Amino acid sequence: MSITGEQDIEGLKRAGIAVAAARDAMGAHVAPGVTTADLDAIGKEILGRHGARSAPQLAYGFPGTTCISVNDKLAHGIPSPHVLLRAGDLVNIDVSAELNGYWADTGASFPVGVVSAQSSALLSATRQALEDAMAQARAGTPVRTIGRAVERRAKRCGFRVLRNLCGHGVGRFIHEDPSIPNTFNRHDRTLLSEGLVITIEPFLTTGATVAVEDSDGWTLRSPDGSWGAQFEHTLIITRGQPIVVT
Ligand code: CO
Ligand code: CO
Repeated sequence: MSITGEQDIEGLKRAGIAVAAARDAMGAHVAPGVTTADLDAIGKEILGRHGARSAPQLAYGFPGTTCISVNDKLAHGIPSPHVLLRAGDLVNIDVSAELNGYWADTGASFPVGVVSAQSSALLSATRQALEDAMAQARAGTPVRTIGRAVERRAKRCGFRVLRNLCGHGVGRFIHEDPSIPNTFNRHDRTLLSEGLVITIEPFLTTGATVAVEDSDGWTLRSPDGSWGAQFEHTLIITRGQPIVVT
């Protein structure tokens, strides 16, 4: 969506506060021995307290409140009482929700206990890729500039970028146009416009450049066992710095 006034900004901020609160509370409970179902229950409780409804559930019938993906599972992981976090794992928590007709989407990856040096580097490179991309996100800038920023950061840090998981328009639904690729496509002439609401969500990996669907019909995992990380914010494009609502 593109915002039309202050009311839209307020609505998006309220939805953003709900998903960010769930993300942070879930992240604070990441520890060895915790299951992904335990984390999802925390997210469900917090979204409920804010009066927000799970976006993947509402929009797609996802069998969980939030998406929780561990190690070589890169996105859309189903929370499960059988998936126990262990020291050294990387867990991605993606929370999106609808509140009063406004939709917001956020995500973050967390280390479980002490992780390898490579995993730590992957987390900081991915977080930095999001920062780099957000610094480029302003009205009049081509969408492909975001992918270029993500690719540059990944390359500089020795990691790769998933081509088939992208940021997206958001606001009145969970997935709207335009697509915000994490790779540079010189043919993409789309420009970011003032008031446009998008997510930026780089996915960096230790090897894979595409995520493939798992046999459960939801989970997207790496085809080669490589691990990934993702950080995501919902933001409103302005002529200056974007307004980050998550
Ligand atoms: Co998300
Ligand atoms: Co998203």
